[in-house]
Amino acid sequence: MSGAEHGRWTLRGAHTEYTVTLPAHGRWLELHAWGPHGVGEGPSPVAYDGPVPFLTAGDAAPVEYATDADRPFTGADLVVETESGNRRVGFGFVEAAHDPDGGALAVTFADPVTGLRAVLRYAVPAGTDVVRRWVELTNTGTGPLRLVRAGSAGFCVPTPHGALLSHQWGQWAQEFQLDHVDLGHGAFTIGSSQGVPGHLHVPWLAVRDRAEPDGSTWGVSVAWTGSWEITAERDTGGLTRVRAGRRLADGPLELPAGAELTLPEVAGAYSTDGLDGLARVWHRYQRLLAGERLTPRPVLYNSWEATYFDVDADSQLALARIAADLGVETFVVDDGWFLGRVDDTTGLGDWTPDPAGFPDGFDAFIAEVRGLGLRFGLWVEPECVSPRSRLYAEHPDWVYAVEGRPLTPIRNQYLLDLGRPEVAEFVHGTIDGLLRRYDIGYLKWDFNRPRTEPGRAGGEKPVDLDGAHVANLHRIYERLRRDHPEVLIESCAGGGGRTDLAMAARADIFWPSDNTAPLDRLAIQHGFLHANAPHLLSSWVTDAPGIFDPRPRSLAFRFVLAMAGVLGIGADIRHWTPEQRAEAAGWIARYKEIREVVTHGEVHLVGGPDQARCAVQYTSPDRRTVVVLAWHTGRSDGPGLLPSRPVRLPLRGLDADGTYRHGDRRYSGAHLTAVGLPVGWTPTHDADLVVLHRA
Ligand code: DGJ
Repeated sequence: MSGAEHGRWTLRGAHTEYTVTLPAHGRWLELHAWGPHGVGEGPSPVAYDGPVPFLTAGDAAPVEYATDADRPFTGADLVVETESGNRRVGFGFVEAAHDPDGGALAVTFADPVTGLRAVLRYAVPAGTDVVRRWVELTNTGTGPLRLVRAGSAGFCVPTPHGALLSHQWGQWAQEFQLDHVDLGHGAFTIGSSQGVPGHLHVPWLAVRDRAEPDGSTWGVSVAWTGSWEITAERDTGGLTRVRAGRRLADGPLELPAGAELTLPEVAGAYSTDGLDGLARVWHRYQRLLAGERLTPRPVLYNSWEATYFDVDADSQLALARIAADLGVETFVVDDGWFLGRVDDTTGLGDWTPDPAGFPDGFDAFIAEVRGLGLRFGLWVEPECVSPRSRLYAEHPDWVYAVEGRPLTPIRNQYLLDLGRPEVAEFVHGTIDGLLRRYDIGYLKWDFNRPRTEPGRAGGEKPVDLDGAHVANLHRIYERLRRDHPEVLIESCAGGGGRTDLAMAARADIFWPSDNTAPLDRLAIQHGFLHANAPHLLSSWVTDAPGIFDPRPRSLAFRFVLAMAGVLGIGADIRHWTPEQRAEAAGWIARYKEIREVVTHGEVHLVGGPDQARCAVQYTSPDRRTVVVLAWHTGRSDGPGLLPSRPVRLPLRGLDADGTYRHGDRRYSGAHLTAVGLPVGWTPTHDADLVVLHRA
């Protein structure tokens, strides 16, 4: 410990260490170094003790968690007001508890004036390169406090040559668009004010130094299923500080005397191997979050695009019979199965199977599906209600509302105030009831509208609506998983509007987008896999040209694409020819052979959808099997003008001296790494699945 420090603590991950120090003044924690093992031995790359004319010391220091007293000008994580509107709450060090073996640190600060106490918590889960951070606030004073900003952490990244930021933007049907920003100076902000992570931005950011794009890469991700914000700001000295946490979109939060509030977790990740390496760090962490539920997911069929709202036993069973013949394992009935749900204007809230569609009873229908050897899955959207539903007629006060103001319908529906205990009981009871009543093994939980009205009907005092909604949503998921451990839950929000680390810990699968058209989907999955592990990637083969992207691709392309995660089919297979069905059955059988490697293997993202080479490599944990899924991204509807050499896919993580076999072909690891696996595209051959076995 240097003379200027009062404490220094290091958390070690699998390959990473994160060291913080307590300066002698004790007002805040500072980052010393964050990088590979050993990075802390030497002068800190982020420390600053030079002059700070026109600023304060905290504005330039690599502060871990800053109030506006610490960083009055360059951005605070926490801004607190007293009842009389005074700001500049400042902290002093109280105590630290460090468990280096358990990868945990808790450092407590307190403000002697207001009595606000903050415990900064750190945890590095064993075997990962992720540091989890969150803050517990307690108002130990006598007066109420108001949180004007309530971020969870600041992450400091050395970017001496400029910051290269990577983020994912989107919209409905175009989620997870990976993009990059070259940030010289100033700030870049992404977030959501929708009470849900949303389609517009993914709560995920990567930061690299402009001069080292393939080297050290730092990531930040917010584990919060409500409104959130990430801001990266690069200062004049080359430090990029990333603030992450909740966005208080509905206004300040009250913290009455004696109250406690735990701010959501944000996670930092580090890799020495660029964006591709960072993806693997997130994958490893999400696999840990999945725990014992990390098993290859069943191949599913979902009937949404085949029948839309026109759901009845006959059409569904016709689809289910064909699906079973193809080798599908789970049959999911999407929207349209319940009372009154003839289109998207009615029905939500009245979760009873429609007897008109299932005249012999829903039980009998499910029994028939089960009799085909299929697991049965059901779509629900329990947080929403249609204005023309019995539920809304009985409980109009259950929806979010601002007194005296009209409600804003989105997709013709309102949003239930899940923070209300009686609403949470209703939502839990509805789903729990369905799972107890029927033989259901898979749930697709949808959410098709953000929150517009920041108010509670009849509510007299301000409530943390976002916090209460998210807390109850998480609790319901946890209860359902505990009580129905055999049921897999897919999280969907009009596509990929609800994918964050907190959901990755509670849902088994994400539906990333309603857009399954081949080339659009390729870009969506490319972004998705940078932030999420393959076991979370639900993907369907749908009919071509499909409803979004008309660019044609073969059935093989669509299958290989859907095999990059959890394979599903969403096409109207009643109209598939015998040849198409035979081909589909073949792909499904091959997927079953590789899905263990897809689920547990180390992922390398080779090239991308905007390049000639585009593939995903999965290497089995024992390194003996390498699965490569590759796609032709260029034109495939006509012959090329010249005979050309095959595209080469450089593989990673192989043993240079090893021999890898694919059918009659043998390659050395050195060849596959340095020269690459050849894939030759023709107008009829636009995708490939190659399984290499180590000889
Ligand atoms: C939106 C989802 O993203 C779709 O997959 C489908 O489930 C529809 N909702 C049903 O309304």
